[in-house]
Amino acid sequence: MSVQVDSERLAEVVPDALAAIHEVLERHRVTEQEWHAVLAFLTEVGRADEFVLLSDVTRTSVLIDALTHGGDESGATASDVEGPMYTTEPPFRTKIYEEYEGISPDDDVLFVRGTVTSTAGDPVPEAVVDVWQTGPSGGYDVWDERQPEGNFRGRIRAETDGSYEFETMLPKPYTVPTEGPVGRYLEAVGQHPWRPAHIHLKVTAPGHQTLITQVFFPGDPYLDNDTIGAVKAALVRPVEPEGDHLACRFDIALRPAA
Ligand SMILES: [Fe+2]
Repeated sequence: MSVQVDSERLAEVVPDALAAIHEVLERHRVTEQEWHAVLAFLTEVGRADEFVLLSDVTRTSVLIDALTHGGDESGATASDVEGPMYTTEPPFRTKIYEEYEGISPDDDVLFVRGTVTSTAGDPVPEAVVDVWQTGPSGGYDVWDERQPEGNFRGRIRAETDGSYEFETMLPKPYTVPTEGPVGRYLEAVGQHPWRPAHIHLKVTAPGHQTLITQVFFPGDPYLDNDTIGAVKAALVRPVEPEGDHLACRFDIALRPAA
């Protein structure tokens, strides 16, 4: 991702950011040795490609999400942090996983369905719902050698009435990666690495703003203490038994394009 920031904004924000950092360094009398350790840590974060993760666990991503999308009274579905695990253009498919060794007989098949509408309530037939999540064990496909590449990832095209549905498995809580520099940081500051179970969604449609969000499930032990602080009450959706599987309804309302 390469983003250009306009130089007027830089001139406005950077001096304030530096003044805030300098004030903290002065207040705590941070030593040369400590500052070199900070720089070495940040270098390592960059080498490990963990800056998004660092932004997440320091709750900076949640703050930026709130500054960007907060205070919206339009009735649109609440946005949430994208996180570092999205991969572009997963296959179009309504069952987003293949069986793998890590699935146990106690794990639940889950159907997620809903309707994509505008904030005015009109169906959005050309919406694409792009989803990614962890499996019931082993986390994301990229962390788990047992899973085929791209497992628990897929895109679903909404029907002409805006409805969509996909088949997955109920995810479980997981820990963010702890073996890299961000894991060392979490341990050092005494912050646990757990996230509540969730499914990520990115919903795109012509004429509408892209929505990036997450769905959570009631009763999860980490709903109140997500390590990245990304749980929003409006995004916690009940899961109901339905025959031999579970079902969860998640209706989505998109803002009109700016
Ligand atoms: Fe996630």
